[in-house]
Amino acid sequence: HSPYLSEVDGHLWLERVDLLGLADAVGTPAYVYSKAHITDAIEALNEAFAGVAFNLHYAVKANSNLAILKLCSELGAGFDIVSGGELSRVIAAGGDPSTVIFSGVGKSIEEIDFALKVGIECFNIESEAELHRIAERAEISGQVAPISIRVNPNVDAQTHPYISTGLKQNKFGVQPEQALAMYQTAAENPQLKIVGIDCHIGSQITDIEPLLDAFTNMLRLVDELASMGIELEHIDLGGGMGIVYQDESPLDLETYGASVRQILGGRGQTIILEPGRSIVANAGVLLTRIEYLKEASEPDAPNFAVVDAAMNDLIRPALYQAWHDVLVVNPNRTLQPRQWDIVGPVCESGDFIAKDRSLGLEAASVLAVASAGAYGMVQASNYNSRGRACEIMVDGERAVNPRRRPLVFHKMHSLGNDFMVIDAVS
Ligand code: LLP
Repeated sequence: HSPYLSEVDGHLWLERVDLLGLADAVGTPAYVYSKAHITDAIEALNEAFAGVAFNLHYAVKANSNLAILKLCSELGAGFDIVSGGELSRVIAAGGDPSTVIFSGVGKSIEEIDFALKVGIECFNIESEAELHRIAERAEISGQVAPISIRVNPNVDAQTHPYISTGLKQNKFGVQPEQALAMYQTAAENPQLKIVGIDCHIGSQITDIEPLLDAFTNMLRLVDELASMGIELEHIDLGGGMGIVYQDESPLDLETYGASVRQILGGRGQTIILEPGRSIVANAGVLLTRIEYLKEASEPDAPNFAVVDAAMNDLIRPALYQAWHDVLVVNPNRTLQPRQWDIVGPVCESGDFIAKDRSLGLEAASVLAVASAGAYGMVQASNYNSRGRACEIMVDGERAVNPRRRPLVFHKMHSLGNDFMVIDAVS
């Protein structure tokens, strides 16, 4: 959990905001993020890598809330993006496009043109066809595109198969031999400026070995390129640093930083990381209220707590069998804890937030789903024509509302029982 999550006067607080009062004020479901937690996470990573020239590029895909992007920018971080939409959000939040790295296997012509126009730091290229497209678009717009090639270092990140990306069978990056040929092609093209090399082997990695193996494999290429006369400015090791959801031993950042420094040796490249989850996951909770308690009808059936958040708000349990801790915001200590499945209103058996949790619940309980700051709201949908959660940023005793609940939700409330008008949801 976040160190900023604590129990005060019998309620759960985030920083100095009472989450019960907040749930009453803004309604549920609501994502709530701690500004102090995010600040600490960025500072800790900068400190761990203080021994080398280092640049942190926050992976926008983990949480693209504008208040979070603004904070990252104020703290001196750059950004790792994967779409034109994410680039627009960085700019809307006041971020500097020249600190943006553009990753992803499918950059469209429109996205490349947009990125060239605003002047990003680097395109992380994932295929030969993309290299040609970027060179072509740069020529048309009369610009030089800064590029890096995403190498597939063929290491197994030992994480969930859906979020493992560094193996031959994954769609990401190119094989080392192919990368060398592509660098050669790029070096001969005046529309392209080679600035770096990158990789990203997966997400929620808790074992340091695969990360260091990937780095060592990349350095072989860096040295080979240098012998071909191609000098790189940076080495981008991607994101992927694992965090504690349950009882994992998270990656030790100090050790990671020290090992990278040692393996880098006397080479002069800047090290770039693209962390998402490790910056925001534990900064956030998802607040949800109980709609119904549906107690087991038979001894071997579960007790269900049906809550107002569902898989459309937080899909991680359904999609990756992810485990998120569930805390009661207003615990009633007189209740005997029992085993509960916490499920949403969506019409699928896969719609669950948590299973078999020992909790003392009553109809008035408000729950906080922990570690929900990363890949929560950004993966939300309107499945079942449900509305979306709002998002709140807590800063000391203040709570600001950087994203309001979309209109459809308000309408349902305001129109009462007469009929329901479904507006387009932005
Ligand atoms: N860089 C690249 C190129 C990536 O593909 C990713 C994540 C990151 C950086 C950031 O990785 P992080 O530091 O957050 O691990 N939806 C999944 C996670 C998908 C991650 C995709 N790529 C989940 O909820 O676990």
